[in-house]
Amino acid sequence: MKNSKFIKALNLQANSIPPVWFMRQAGRYLPEYQKIRKNYTNFLDMCKQPRTCAELALQPIDRFGLDASILFSDILTIPDALNLGLAFHEGEGPKFSNPISSPQDIQKLLPFDINNLNYVFKAVEETKNQLPQDTPLIGFCGSPWTLAAYSIEGGGSKDFHKTHAFMREHPKELQNFLEILSKACFEYLRQQVMSGVNAIQIFDSWADLLSGDNLETFSLKYTRMLCKLLKEDPVTADIPIILFEKSPNKKLEDIVFKEITCVSLYWQEDIESISKNFKDQYAIQGNLDPKVLLKSDESIWEATQRICNIMKEYPGFIFNLGHGITPDIDPNKVQVMVDAIRQ
Ligand code: CP3
Repeated sequence: MKNSKFIKALNLQANSIPPVWFMRQAGRYLPEYQKIRKNYTNFLDMCKQPRTCAELALQPIDRFGLDASILFSDILTIPDALNLGLAFHEGEGPKFSNPISSPQDIQKLLPFDINNLNYVFKAVEETKNQLPQDTPLIGFCGSPWTLAAYSIEGGGSKDFHKTHAFMREHPKELQNFLEILSKACFEYLRQQVMSGVNAIQIFDSWADLLSGDNLETFSLKYTRMLCKLLKEDPVTADIPIILFEKSPNKKLEDIVFKEITCVSLYWQEDIESISKNFKDQYAIQGNLDPKVLLKSDESIWEATQRICNIMKEYPGFIFNLGHGITPDIDPNKVQVMVDAIRQ
């Protein structure tokens, strides 16, 4: 991995051309993905086929020559392994048939069994075998808070009404659940590392549900617990950790902590001011607004070069989108972005 620009950036070393990969780089916007996806009704069944996962992870690498690959899986594999009955039906988001509706549901949970996730670790091995030698593989998990929110809500939602009610009525029991999830995430990431991943990203995709002190009490506390466990274990101690907080109610400067290697910026964050405060401390990943990819080639070129110019003196910059790519984007527009970075 010595020749990887992505790993160099995580080590705060300068690259003349920044490395690039992007969130949800394997997915529905790619016709080659759709071709395989149509063989499965439930998306999760596809995630349980390691060979298929490897093939899907490699699609964007083959097409765009990106500098890092991300494991093809989903953050919701952990709640699924806790028997919450996850399915992804046609045209809908995730749905749990057996969500956490009461404190008793938390008490009744069986102990987390890492063996339920062997299909993920096989996918890591398979993907590593197929990737070009110097292309690193990123493993990932959801933050404990984001996993709890989906598990209580029973799926996606506009307002996460049930999750807010649970937080108000049963804060202690919610914290017990968050602790269970933190330990499960640790074991899960540890096994991903054992299977070959070179870096880890933690997705706190529902950080924006938490206002005031609740961000600290229900999310950051547990993400830190997870990162401390990773740093204390010899297997994972040296693995770079990337943190993505979606639109948090706090400045990133007040969120980061020493166990983090890299901060992945949501598209609304001001990369220029944050880069001044993080220089020589954290690598930065980001943060083109994915919606820019719906615009003209000239607009994409301009917006991409703007970010590259701001970050050109920043050792430890990784180009990425400020959130996942959406299914409505034309892959040719992604190529325009990649070309603009490498110019
Ligand atoms: O290239 C990659 O990033 C592939 C691996 C990956 C997927 N999901 C595949 C996927 C990763 C890293 C994720 C993370 C993930 N999953 C997050 C965090 C990132 C973020 O967007 O904030 C979240 C919140 C989820 C939960 C999830 N998975 C939802 C809400 C949905 C349905 C809606 C949607 O955005 O597609 C999924 C399904 C999913 N996960 C798909 C893919 C390719 C699409 C499934 C399909 O083809 O039907």
